[in-house]
Amino acid sequence: MKKLSLIVLILIVFLLVSCQQDTDTELIELTLEELSYYDGKEGRPAYIAVNGDIYDVTDSFYWQSGMHNGFAAGQDLTDEIINQSPHGLSNLDRVPIVGKIVEGD
Ligand code: HEM
Repeated sequence: MKKLSLIVLILIVFLLVSCQQDTDTELIELTLEELSYYDGKEGRPAYIAVNGDIYDVTDSFYWQSGMHNGFAAGQDLTDEIINQSPHGLSNLDRVPIVGKIVEGD
């Protein structure tokens, strides 16, 4: 009986380990030129860059079609979010970071 419980326990542990999802999602690297593709138009994802990080706003209610209060996705909006938005950087933790900006050639 003890042996059977041990086997069942080992099986459960094995199952749990093998089912574990890889939560370390790879961060992408884009130049500002490449970022411009992700403008949220015609089914493309909507990405914005702030302080070198790329945020995915595709699923955000506030960024439909890649537009938000006159600002368009697909570009660096660091200066705009700090100096022109009423919320500053505070809302950024509500959208996922998917990558970072790299220098072009
Ligand atoms: C005139 C300028 C802007 C206004 C009036 C504005 C206003 C707002 C408002 C009212 C919300 C929803 C806040 C809430 O539910 O508590 C929001 C969310 C947000 N805003 Fe802005 N915003 C402006 C500019 C910007 C800019 C330039 C960025 C650039 C990065 C930005 C990024 C965001 C993000 C990431 C969210 C969160 C979206 C979400 O929760 O899904 N905003 N903004």
